[in-house]
Amino acid sequence: MTADPLLPTGSSLPIRILGIETSCDETAAAVVENGRIIYTSAVASQVDIHAQYGGVFPEVASRQHIRTIYAIVETALQQAHFHLNDMDAIAVTRGPGLPGSLVIGMNVAKGLALGSGLPLIGINHLEAHIYSAWLHWPPLANGVNPEVELPPEPRFPLAALIVSGGHTELVLIKDHLVYQRLGGTLDDAAGEAFDKVARLIGLEYPGGPAIQRASIDGNPKAFSLPRAWLEGTWNFSFSGLKTAVMREVRLLQEQKIELPVADLAASFQAAVVDVLAGKTIRAAETLDAAEILVAGGVSANQPLRDAIQEKAFCPVHIPPLELCTDNAAMAAAAGYYRYIHGQRDGLDMDVLPNWPLSEV
Ligand code: KG4
Ligand code: ZN
Repeated sequence: MTADPLLPTGSSLPIRILGIETSCDETAAAVVENGRIIYTSAVASQVDIHAQYGGVFPEVASRQHIRTIYAIVETALQQAHFHLNDMDAIAVTRGPGLPGSLVIGMNVAKGLALGSGLPLIGINHLEAHIYSAWLHWPPLANGVNPEVELPPEPRFPLAALIVSGGHTELVLIKDHLVYQRLGGTLDDAAGEAFDKVARLIGLEYPGGPAIQRASIDGNPKAFSLPRAWLEGTWNFSFSGLKTAVMREVRLLQEQKIELPVADLAASFQAAVVDVLAGKTIRAAETLDAAEILVAGGVSANQPLRDAIQEKAFCPVHIPPLELCTDNAAMAAAAGYYRYIHGQRDGLDMDVLPNWPLSEV
């Protein structure tokens, strides 16, 4: 393995981080080496439980985290053939996220840190999504460190689009851990828009994958839906688009016409993809970014991945599908870069449910 430029000269020791993530409705733990090699990434999804409510039910989410977290941490360590004392640190998602969910992962991480004497590192969830692009997949799960050929790391400066259920942010990443926020959504996050529109047209939760599936048989030009370009800014807005879909649905219902779900889904998806891909590529060009990075749950969207890959003038990094949605490997990867930068948090660290990336 090549020496890491951030490590002190002469240090080639593998640094292994246990990551813990409970910011929303996935209970996750992972073991990652040197911020790039996944040994294990265990995720217990609560999607089926929340689907019956049409969205995440916060109290149910935290109760479910309590039930699952110990088993998930044990699974992550056991499958990697490691014990806790083989780790160098514990990285845990500190925020942003649901307070009741964050607290579960945070308290478990504190307990493990206290019991083992390992350093504790609080991680911003958006930074974790960014570092999913550094990870190598598939996981090794054999406890051995072979000389794996790692794909090249993303190169700075990076134009990064972070698109999830709670966030839509355009960021210029100048170096490891150095962020300049360019803009973000003024209203709904892109994933939130997918989830709300899915519900409007009768599709299940989570809406993103459901809309993508329904769109396969749809015509993206069937409905002429608005694109909020918000020229002169790097901001986004999706509430007008959501309202436009709502209006079309009402009109069709008043006329007692069966909803053309595939066409509505495809037209909505095309409008979101146009704006996300268009503005990200333009930001990269304008700001002379070396490469583009897309991360977060919505980066699992195939038409978005294709649009950015096809139209970008520079290399594009989008994590494999398993690493787009919430997982703990990305928290461990971010934890590695924070660890070698010297970050250590105390046992008095509290969760930060509204923690912007710009304040990390
Ligand atoms: O990053 P994530 O797992 O959790 C948050 O941090 O919010 O993102 C979840 C969001 C949901 O809104 C979900 O609908 C969306 O990501 N999503 C997708 C796709 N897969 C997940 N949106 C569009 N297309 C997809 N294939
Ligand atoms: Zn997320």
